[in-house]
Amino acid sequence: MAILSLVAPAVLIALAFLVFGLVNSVLFLGVSGCLFLLLVLVGKAWIRRRLPTLVQNSVGFFHPFADSGGGGERVLWCAVRALQDAYPDLQILIYCKAGNTAQSLCVRASSAFSLDVDDTFEVIPLTHCHLISPNSYPRWTMLQQALGSAHLAYDGLSQAVPQVMVDTSGWAFMYPLFRLAGVKVASYTHYPTISTDMLQRVISRQAAFNNDAGVAGSPLKSLVKVVYYYLFAAAYGAVGGCTNVVMVNSSWTREHISKLWWKFTQPSLVYPPCNVSQLAALKLDRKLKSLYLVSLAQFRPEKDQAKQLRAFALARQRAAALERQREAAISQGTAVVVVSPFFEAVLAARLKVVGSCRNAEDEERVVQLEALSRALGLNDCVDFCVNAPFSEVQQLLGGAVGGLHTMVDEHFGISIVEYMAAGTIPIAHNSAGPKMDILVDKSCGYLCQSEEEYANAITEVLQMDQSRRMKIARAARERALQFSDERFQEGFLRALERGGLLPLNLHG
Ligand SMILES: *[C@@H]1O[C@H](CO)[C@@H](O)[C@H](O)[C@H]1NC(C)=O
Ligand SMILES: *[C@@H]1O[C@H](CO)[C@@H](O)[C@H](O)[C@H]1NC(C)=O
Repeated sequence: MAILSLVAPAVLIALAFLVFGLVNSVLFLGVSGCLFLLLVLVGKAWIRRRLPTLVQNSVGFFHPFADSGGGGERVLWCAVRALQDAYPDLQILIYCKAGNTAQSLCVRASSAFSLDVDDTFEVIPLTHCHLISPNSYPRWTMLQQALGSAHLAYDGLSQAVPQVMVDTSGWAFMYPLFRLAGVKVASYTHYPTISTDMLQRVISRQAAFNNDAGVAGSPLKSLVKVVYYYLFAAAYGAVGGCTNVVMVNSSWTREHISKLWWKFTQPSLVYPPCNVSQLAALKLDRKLKSLYLVSLAQFRPEKDQAKQLRAFALARQRAAALERQREAAISQGTAVVVVSPFFEAVLAARLKVVGSCRNAEDEERVVQLEALSRALGLNDCVDFCVNAPFSEVQQLLGGAVGGLHTMVDEHFGISIVEYMAAGTIPIAHNSAGPKMDILVDKSCGYLCQSEEEYANAITEVLQMDQSRRMKIARAARERALQFSDERFQEGFLRALERGGLLPLNLHG
């Protein structure tokens, strides 16, 4: 009885505190929510008053450097082409650096990508593109670029406001402004502005700083940096939440974007268009009299061609051992030869290391690789083809039975897709893009990690009989076509349509 009379008031007091806390937090959330809504409404009204009215039936593409010739621009022009084909009445606006005209951009798209775009779109010139150049900001680069991009977006909107804006260059800090202006936003992200890997790296660098007692004052600096990165990542997540449709170019990017952006729905994975149609027109069967493997990569350190040479040497050593065994058996007059009769293929095969050099360091790397090749005893069976023109590369791909790739954690691996389109069986590194996006189905190639695994795959591919090889090559080509222009266009249109951005509501 005495215990109860003690416990009861305690429980009552605890309950009272709980209720008080709950009421308080609900109040706090409610009040801040209302304030936020009010701010948004006021901001919207303020911005709408300053900007021109919406251009009816229009879709904008925000791409400041639309006149470049990189993968991002290929995405832009393929997307524009898709809209022109599917919605011919649409008014397309392209927001890009001042000085470009629709005609000059079409000529560029045609020469850089063999893409045939109608010059019926309108160019909205942006005059302050230096605002987003990283070179303008030695310090706080990400933050200043982000603010610069919002400024640039305002610059564009004050000339014309589309109903839908497609961002194909990843300037996420413009999205809130677009939404306030009443524009729906679709984003196509190649690469997150800040990634969880980057945060991890900043943190581990801080730990390294702390260990270095000699650097006074640095722990504080790196702490500031960590806080800056975290705040920036939170802001990036919030602005990413302002999108209506999110597309990403790879599983890797999808993983990061879905972790960072404040969205409930998963981003749509729309692979970027690769130039595979001509490769896919090559014949699938190979002249097996001149059997060879190909390696296609720039001569950069991370491409690790040395590993390919060592694996090839290992495969040859094993085949040579088998050959010696057989010779010994024959000279001893043993009737039954127990070794596989196919090892000759490995000894007869060549490896063609194809790639381009960007600078003197790359050229030095080629010299080192040649030396390694001699040291491994491969001088008679390895060829280096440096800076070969595309037509020659294409021919080499069309004759190879297997293609090697050894870069660790490559985000994609376009060379692997090119192997596959050409009907060359890929032997790729078992990580990132090759593992998550390209060779998800094991029936169209090999994923390896150690030199042993590479040597096994090389042996298997070289010794394969023609019917099995054709079967794999056919599956590989089929998979490579997932990365074609047509697939990209389908995926792009479907994502906009599913998100309700297309077809446009003409009275909205
Ligand atoms: C696309 O491939 C064809 C041949 O396959 C080549 O002539 C053209 O230059 C390539 N275009 C690009 C942008 O790579
Ligand atoms: C996505 O874009 C990034 C940055 O341009 C690139 O490194 C990566 O290879 C792309 N992924 C695919 C699947 O093309």
